[in-house]
Amino acid sequence: MSGHHPIVYLNGELKRLDQARVSVLDRGFLLGDGVYEVIPAYGGRLFRCEQHLARLERSLAAVRIPNPMDRGTWSTVLDDLVQRNGGGDQSVYLQITRGTANRRDHVFSGDLHPTVLVMSSPIEDVGAEVAEAGVAAVTLEDIRWKRCDIKAITLLPNVLLRQQALDTGAAEAILIRAGHATEGAASNLFIVGDGLLTTPPKGPQLLPGITRDLVLELAQAHGIGCRETPVTTEALHAAAEIWLTSSTREILPVTRLDGQAVGTGRPGPVWTRMHGLYQEYKERLRHGGAAATTP
Ligand code: PDD
Repeated sequence: MSGHHPIVYLNGELKRLDQARVSVLDRGFLLGDGVYEVIPAYGGRLFRCEQHLARLERSLAAVRIPNPMDRGTWSTVLDDLVQRNGGGDQSVYLQITRGTANRRDHVFSGDLHPTVLVMSSPIEDVGAEVAEAGVAAVTLEDIRWKRCDIKAITLLPNVLLRQQALDTGAAEAILIRAGHATEGAASNLFIVGDGLLTTPPKGPQLLPGITRDLVLELAQAHGIGCRETPVTTEALHAAAEIWLTSSTREILPVTRLDGQAVGTGRPGPVWTRMHGLYQEYKERLRHGGAAATTP
């Protein structure tokens, strides 16, 4: 990072973070009207950038915000910002709101210019301690809307659920909808049971995670049996292993669920294997290798 003042990209300009400003009439501020992505970079190289940009395109189309840049321009802007902030391991946040109108109104017109913000912060290492012990999670009723597949900035339910989890001493909330565990408040869900790695299928009830896709690819490439099948609350509570995946926390082993030990109460053997494969994948990216799922 450049001193204590990271550089951000705002509407085509580069600014110091403490000097970047948007209007109070921005629809992101007034209405939560926008979408976002979080893209990690390792060794200054963006992780699965194409996949993140593809998901961004889907989110924008779903909420009818025109994409302000093509993929090539996005890549250039993102890469440039990572380098300007010193390369290395970073977490890049990008958000696009519908723009600034001249008054607050639910209804939008087609002549708005989207507000584009990209900023970056150092990645916080998940740490050996977590790998040793795992984290606690609690199940909570999913109070979100019916389009959880859109990566919208409107995150009030996720904020409340995650805070509720933290208030009870857990690291994450696992969300329950109609008797099924769908995902975490800010992560996707995997369980190991009956000798298989299982994750709920994509659909409107969960965010199609980029980390989730990579875990499935790594499982397939390395002969770890996996399937995309709904996970009942019972199956969750009976699981030998539970993991939560996200760009910021990678693959987090859950060793306590609702106050009870998961399996042996330690991160399991399938997690240890997958965590290793994931770290190898990151190392290949860091050293400029092709991002293949096998060495
Ligand atoms: N959140 N599900 C939800 C609801 C999420 O918010 C996230 C990520 C994921 C995992 O997606 P991915 O593997 O693409 O990061 C699943 C980001 C990190 C955030 O809101 O900060």
